[in-house]
Amino acid sequence: MLVSAKEMLDKARAGKYAVGQFNINNLEWTKAILLTAEELKSPVILGVSEGAGKYMTGMETVAAMVKAMDKSLGITVPVALHLDHGSYEGCYKCIKAGFTSIMFDGSHFPIEENVAKTTELVNASHNLGLSIEAEVGSIGGEEDGVVGMGECADPNECKMIADLGVDFLAAGIGNIHGQYPANWAGLSFETLAAVNEKVGEMPLVLHGGTGIPADMIKKAISLGVAKINVNTECQLAFAAATREYIEAGKDKQGKGFDPRKLLAPGFEAIKATVKEKMELFGSVGKA
Ligand code: 13P
Repeated sequence: MLVSAKEMLDKARAGKYAVGQFNINNLEWTKAILLTAEELKSPVILGVSEGAGKYMTGMETVAAMVKAMDKSLGITVPVALHLDHGSYEGCYKCIKAGFTSIMFDGSHFPIEENVAKTTELVNASHNLGLSIEAEVGSIGGEEDGVVGMGECADPNECKMIADLGVDFLAAGIGNIHGQYPANWAGLSFETLAAVNEKVGEMPLVLHGGTGIPADMIKKAISLGVAKINVNTECQLAFAAATREYIEAGKDKQGKGFDPRKLLAPGFEAIKATVKEKMELFGSVGKA
């Protein structure tokens, strides 16, 4: 069932668990995530970066695929189709294409411009029943061409953006897209606690979910995080399982080269990763 992400995240925040946003790249990713959410009776958010959308030939293709797959698989749990790190123009494209949620990443603009553009997009998305995420501070590292320096968010700026009526807020707290370096300083819980105090009951979003230790995830949830984004970890799991299949020569046995066989171990690896995360985030049985 395709829905906005607002209700599922308000419930998660109140119930002290988090809903996973898992980024999709193609049909296998989408199917693996939807089936796992349904099996575990968990709400779920499918994240689409602008790069992944382009790869899948555009956001209209993505929206059509997700809607049709949700229906043909008979998915009953709440599913939000969400633009990840959207540009101003990208947000409008996804609103038009039929997404149910968008993220406007205005974190690289001066705060006045972030405020002006976010205000406009809050109205545009709410008029059509979509939820909207905004970002303050920045997520370090690179994801599909979106590069961040990893500045921690200013809690006063978070309040300013939260007050514009966004439904959930991503605040930079030392989190990084991709794998964490060995010398990573960890999440800044001081920043998270200060942001949480300023924004009241607003669900907070933790990007860069790959590789964050379980104890830090739990602490972040206790401080208001209700949405956790995971992308790289599914990619690593898919790549490792596919490599294992090919290195074992299985593609050369019988019809092992059939893409439905070749991609099956990677598909199962994505399912296992999503399951592990949903269990850790506490969203199992919350649909
Ligand atoms: P990772 O790739 O580090 O899991 O980050 C995902 C993310 O934050 C998507 O916005």
